[in-house]
Amino acid sequence: MSINSAVMSSKRMDWETPDDLFAELHEEFGFTRDVFARADNAKCVRFFSPADDGLAKEWGSGEVCWMNPPYGREISKWMEKAHQEAFEFGNCVVCLVPSRTDTRWWHEYAMKGAIRFLRGRLRFKGAPDKAPFPSAVIVFEGRAGMSHSGATTRKRAGNRGNKTSRRTSSPQG
Ligand SMILES: C[S@@+](CC[C@H](N)C(=O)[O-])C[C@H]1O[C@@H](n2cnc3c(N)ncnc32)[C@H](O)[C@@H]1O
Repeated sequence: MSINSAVMSSKRMDWETPDDLFAELHEEFGFTRDVFARADNAKCVRFFSPADDGLAKEWGSGEVCWMNPPYGREISKWMEKAHQEAFEFGNCVVCLVPSRTDTRWWHEYAMKGAIRFLRGRLRFKGAPDKAPFPSAVIVFEGRAGMSHSGATTRKRAGNRGNKTSRRTSSPQG
């Protein structure tokens, strides 16, 4: 199997977020919960594991959630859940997903959020090479950011133009 096909393989769906990307986004958003993780790759102290089943859990109220879901056909379910948690329950959810702009889940869910297309290709943590697919960060703000703590909102407002926004571009400009 070539390196690219190893990264593409549907058998491996738990590619870990690169540290620098997570650090930039965490600085901006101040995540309170990683909703899809294991103890060895969790990005927040509070996280849901496969045993908890992040899909079945309520994610809380006023949480700022990080979501790098398992990739593969089931991504539609994870995106539907993220969208619901934001639009029905007011949590902010920031999702790292493959930029699959022709899919149903992209049109039904991703396009309801603020889309940040990542420039270039990510090298996921522990991956031998860069991914053969483009990635995007989707931000579901929750209730217009009002579900966040004041501290988080201030932190984010003060961080406009930071490193994350330089490495991304948004169709909204
Ligand atoms: C793409 S990895 C992301 C890991 C880490 N959160 C990160 O950002 O690098 C997805 C993780 O979700 C976990 N996972 C799979 N199904 C899950 C479920 N139903 N609930 C919670 N976590 C799950 C996998 O074990 C895997 O560690």
